[in-house]
Order: sequence, then C-alpha cells, then structure tokens
Amino acid sequence: LATAEELAADLQWWPDGATIDLAPGQPGPDLLPAAALAEAAADQVGDAARNLLYGSQPGPRRLLREIATLVEASEGYRPELDSLLVTGGTSMALEEICATFSRPGESVAVGDLTYDLALRIFRDHGLEVVKVPGEGAELDLTALSDLLSASDRRVAFVYVIPTFHNPSGACATPRWRTDLADLARSHKTVVVEDDAYRELFFREPPPPSVRSRLNGTTLRLGTFSKTLAPGLRLSWVEGDPVLVERLSQRGMRVSGGGTSHYVASLVARMLESGAYQEHLSALRRELALRAEVVDATLLETKEAGWTYEAPAGGFFFLIGSSRSKDLARTFREVGVRVVPVRKSRSGGGDQVRIAISFADAATLEAALRRAADAITDSPAQEARERGRAC
Ligand SMILES: Cc1ncc(COP(=O)(O)O)c(C=O)c1O
Repeated sequence: LATAEELAADLQWWPDGATIDLAPGQPGPDLLPAAALAEAAADQVGDAARNLLYGSQPGPRRLLREIATLVEASEGYRPELDSLLVTGGTSMALEEICATFSRPGESVAVGDLTYDLALRIFRDHGLEVVKVPGEGAELDLTALSDLLSASDRRVAFVYVIPTFHNPSGACATPRWRTDLADLARSHKTVVVEDDAYRELFFREPPPPSVRSRLNGTTLRLGTFSKTLAPGLRLSWVEGDPVLVERLSQRGMRVSGGGTSHYVASLVARMLESGAYQEHLSALRRELALRAEVVDATLLETKEAGWTYEAPAGGFFFLIGSSRSKDLARTFREVGVRVVPVRKSRSGGGDQVRIAISFADAATLEAALRRAADAITDSPAQEARERGRAC
C-alpha cells in the first residue's frame, strides 16, 4: 500500500495525520468498494474487445440501460436511452454543458449558497455568475424570475442542487421544484440540476427531481463519485434527447469514443451483478448511522450554542454556533479541519460544513466534543469572543 507521502503526491489532497479532517466531500477509504470493483474488473478481462476499444459516443448501451433502471427506481419513470449520456464526472459534464449551451459574456444563475467549485468551471467559460438570494437548497423564485425577465442579460442556464444540497445538506420542497419547473418553462430557460447526492438518502427517498417535472429543458446530473468512488470519474446526464444529442455530437466524443469507456463498462458490470446496489445499501446505512451520531453529539453538547438542521441524506451538516464568532477557527485550534461557509446574504452567522463521509462515527463524535469543549470551557476563547463583541 502507498505511504502517506506517496498518497499526498498522487492525490488532490490527503490528511496530514495530525488533524481530524471533516472537510472532504468524498467517501473515506473505508467506504470504497475495492473488493467489488476488483471482482467486476476480473469479469471484464475476458471480454477485451467490448471493454477496451473506443466506446460509443453517448456511452455503452449496457450502462445507459442500467442508469435508466436506477432512474426508474428513484423517480418512477423510465427514461429513453437517447435521453442519457455517460460523462466523466459531474465536473466534466458541467464543462461540456458550458461549452455546448453557453457563450462567453452570458450569465449563469446560482443560489447564494452553492457548490463553489462549479463556479470556477462557469467562470472558465467566460460566464458571469449571478447569485440569487435563497435559503438552503432553494433559490428565491421571485428574484430568479426578475433576473430571467431582465432584458439586459441572457441567462444561459440556472444551476441548482435541490437534493441534499452542498453545503447545507438541505432538500428543496416538492412545491419549490414544481414552481422552479414552471418558471423555467415559461422563460424557456435551461435548468442544470446537479443531483450528486440523490441516491444517498438515510431513510425516505427525497422528492422527485425538477427534471421529472420539466422535461424539455432540464439537464439532470448524476454521478458515481459519491456512491462508488470519485477516482473513477464517471457520471451521467439525463435530459431532453435534443439537448443530449448536441452534447453527444461534440468533437471530443467523436474523437475519443465517448468518455471513460473502460470505467463505464466496469460500473455497468457492477450494476448488472447487483454489487452496486448492495454497496449503496450498506453506504446508506453507514451514513445514516454517522448522521445519527453527529446529531446526538450536537444535542448532548448543546451548551456550545449549536445551530443546525440535521440532513435527511447526503454528506453534509452545516453548523453554526451562537457562542462562537469564528467557528472555523475554533475547529482549527482543536485540530479539526472543516469548510468555513461565509455568512449568506439572507442572514445567519458564519457557519462550517462538516462531511460525514470521510471520518467514521467515533472520529466525528470526538471532533465535535473537542470543538464544544473549546467553545464552552476555554477562558481564552471566551475572552476572545468578549473582545470581538466590543
Ligand atoms: C454538488 C456537487 N456537484 C459536483 C461535484 C463533483 O462531482 P464529480 O466528482 O462527479 O465531478 C461535487 C463534489 O463535491 C458536488 O458536491
């Protein structure tokens, strides 16, 4: 196995060992389905022609069929195969969508609180990112309507994360999804629905997607990064066949034979054998358990003044504290890495995002207790807070 030094050199990021890391929004090593992937890879070897030559432009039909089955199970309708496209991770899908459906100088509407790294992709394409006020996963639809009606700008698309939102963990209501679909329909606006966390519900499945209410102009993005492993770089787009065909016909796909053909075949094999579904059930159970531990620990240490809403799925808790002015710093001082989330326009104090995906339940509990102790016990902390309040 690789040493910590090798891991640090080869990966985007690897924890230094001294810090408890609750920042990364990816499965920890203990949640990766290594054995099931190895088995699927062994099955692939005998059929080299099928798996190792250039793939078809939209992706191998066997994977599209399996994705259609996944969508049917979670949404109640079975998409036609020509409305599906295999992509190399949602990040790559966003890149392809920007290249196909936007021009430099146009705008993209996003929530005040959103997945920040998507904004880098939009800006790379010369798009102006316009933040629409909102709460959790929901954009204020009156403000969005005003933006879409403004004659001085063309909004190339609206980007939303309605289900187990990053960073808030929140879920948009069914009503909001319908209203967004109606608004987009009346403005003929494309909605890019980033559905990275849909499959990761703890108990009840989330409400049906915006895509299920808006056929013509939604592009819904699913990814195997969160349910299997981000290093696979495999995801999909589901949308109107006309839009999907435009993505499918791009030169990059013609030249490269689709994208990630071998990995697509590998994951198709895991779906065909049931290994994916088995892994997903275990993953959901583990995440649900961790969420319960986090919730219980926050309740038990409530003298720290925690403010949060427990999510019903996904990877994230967004936490504030009425007793700490700089919560990210408090966590840092007790050796816990979290993601600071700046105060949103619509109110609330500064908050931090913790992921339940990378650290196990015991580590999550220990980290939160350390932070709670620092907030409630430390005279230095209290003096600092008093100093700031003045
Ligand atoms: C909302 C959201 N979209 C997209 C991504 C990136 O997904 P992928 O690994 O499929 O590119 C992430 C990862 O953190 C995410 O949280």
